[in-house]
Amino acid sequence: MILAIETSCDETSVAVLDADGSVRVNLIASQIDRHQPFGGVVPEIASREHLQHLFPLITRALQDAKLDWSDIDRIAVTAGPGLIGALLVGVAGAQGLAYGLGIPLVPVNHLEGHIYSAYLQREGPAIPLPKRFLSLVISGGHSSIYDVRDGVITMLNRTRDDAIGETFDKVAKFIGLPYPGGPQIEKYANQGHTDRKRFHFPMPQFNDRSIDFSYSGIKAGAIRLAREHGISAAGDLRLLADFCATFQDALIDQLFDRLDAVWTRLGEQKPDEVALAGGVAANGSLRDRIAGWGRQHGVIVRVPEKRYCTDNAAMIAFAAARKPDGATDPRRVSARSRVQ
Ligand code: KG4
Ligand code: ZN
Repeated sequence: MILAIETSCDETSVAVLDADGSVRVNLIASQIDRHQPFGGVVPEIASREHLQHLFPLITRALQDAKLDWSDIDRIAVTAGPGLIGALLVGVAGAQGLAYGLGIPLVPVNHLEGHIYSAYLQREGPAIPLPKRFLSLVISGGHSSIYDVRDGVITMLNRTRDDAIGETFDKVAKFIGLPYPGGPQIEKYANQGHTDRKRFHFPMPQFNDRSIDFSYSGIKAGAIRLAREHGISAAGDLRLLADFCATFQDALIDQLFDRLDAVWTRLGEQKPDEVALAGGVAANGSLRDRIAGWGRQHGVIVRVPEKRYCTDNAAMIAFAAARKPDGATDPRRVSARSRVQ
């Protein structure tokens, strides 16, 4: 039984996972309300909120799971990447618990947590992991495609500038929509019969045939269009809906453009499964399109439960469960804002 702690950004989360990957409990204290007035995450506020919520959340997690400390075999914690002050709260808390209880501590890379999250189920044991799969990690801080083979993770591409979720957030902020922008853009994109050809966003390509992502061009284009057409949350709803639908399509089109390119480059070495991960994987339009892509290519597509898309400790516990040798002396674990 693993108890996991996640505090890398603006969600304090505690989960307990069984040996078979069943999520016993996954509690999330979201801080969105505290950051919303500032239009984005304020690191200092995040750290203080984690400090306030972490231990009450741990107590409640054990109560909800009807467990006591003697049932917990290991503690797992997100050690990075993330906001350093926020990570430190989780890591220090986890160190204290593991040391005090005399049980091992497993430091987990936040991205690894996201990568395996598609295999967790709402109820019951986790879906068995295939020997190999592709993972698209799309969140506020990352946009990358990974090739995962027997637990070895190889990055196939990355973003050269903004992450996809960051682009949703920045453009939403510019037009006056609240943070986080992704779900807001999606909400307006789904307002009835939108004209999806009303605006045009070019597909970014690199001269060196790189298959990296690049979202800064779409971001700048969106801001220019919004300015030219007077698009705003307080303005014309039809215009706003058309803009959100076209902008969302452009962001997702680029995901598929790069996924297709990766797929072609893999030649005969294609995996049987493709998984999504990260906050942007909660997007309904993307979830529908990737299902269609899977049918077209004869591949199994794994999409995480929405509760496991955004940051959560269940995925951290699950990643720790993949590392039988990952436990270390709690005193040797340290938080790192960047991880190679
Ligand atoms: O994985 P996550 O919770 O945090 C990071 O590790 O970054 O992802 C948060 C990101 C935000 O940029 C948010 O706008 C985006 O995920 N997001 C969405 C949706 N829900 C969350 N983007 C598009 N559509 C959504 N429904
Ligand atoms: Zn995340």
